[in-house]
Amino acid sequence: MISVRAPATSANLGSGFDVFGVALDRPADVVRVERADETTIDVTGAGAQYIPEDPGKNTAGVVARELDAPAHIHIDKGVRPSSGLGSSAASAAAATVALADLYDRDLTDEALVRVAAEGEAAVSGDAHADNVAPAILGGFTIVREDGVECVDADLALAVCLPDIVVSTRDARGVVPESAAMADLVDTVGSAATLTLGMCRGDPEQVGRGVEEHLVTPARAALVDGYDAACDAARAAGATGVTVSGSGPGVLAVCRRADRKQVAAALVDGFEDAGVDATAYPTEVGDGATFV
Ligand code: HSE
Repeated sequence: MISVRAPATSANLGSGFDVFGVALDRPADVVRVERADETTIDVTGAGAQYIPEDPGKNTAGVVARELDAPAHIHIDKGVRPSSGLGSSAASAAAATVALADLYDRDLTDEALVRVAAEGEAAVSGDAHADNVAPAILGGFTIVREDGVECVDADLALAVCLPDIVVSTRDARGVVPESAAMADLVDTVGSAATLTLGMCRGDPEQVGRGVEEHLVTPARAALVDGYDAACDAARAAGATGVTVSGSGPGVLAVCRRADRKQVAAALVDGFEDAGVDATAYPTEVGDGATFV
């Protein structure tokens, strides 16, 4: 039997739509696999009632099929579904690493990411890899058609989960189909600043780099209370705030000493707008690990 823990992740980081992602130090899913003639799945933990156990519809089941690795798969959810924190990606990433080990598949990091992204596609309708890459590799990741880059990043964050449901499928539906050149120039500037900030561990640069005006406003419109939460977080010291993945989660970048007050301010901002929310301080963390 093999057990693997894979963390929650935050994708996009504003300026890197479908490209950037970070692993968060918590929460995480734990996936346990045992060889079997046919794949079966059972799910426990946060939001387990919303996760299909049919292997054809579950990220981990799709991964087992892709790897030709039938198994009994137990998924213990730590990452709440439809939160914007890469819930399905955490299960797909943990299952990929666990099943590749169980069946002695010798896969490169990029191949592991590709397989896990197929699992993601089963639930989101799109094989984007910006959550599964950091869930497997950890740190800050850049995903492109031709490969994956990964760097360790020392960065403090606060994450807030408003009590709203936004599905990835719906949130992808509001992304604009085209963009003006001025907006692209602005986004490239933010993405470059963010990348430099990640490499330097500089919360000011990363905070400026999450600012983006193409995808984020369309996504933010699906999250009641988003503007109030951003204003409150900035007043408490956040250097930048954005929608986490496809939402409704919100990610704030900050200095380490400000993490708790920024998390509290995000909750206050949502509550002032009449939306219940929870938040916690976190940081960029490791990828999938055997436990
Ligand atoms: N890049 C994806 C999106 C991540 O924003 O739709 C989904 O979590």
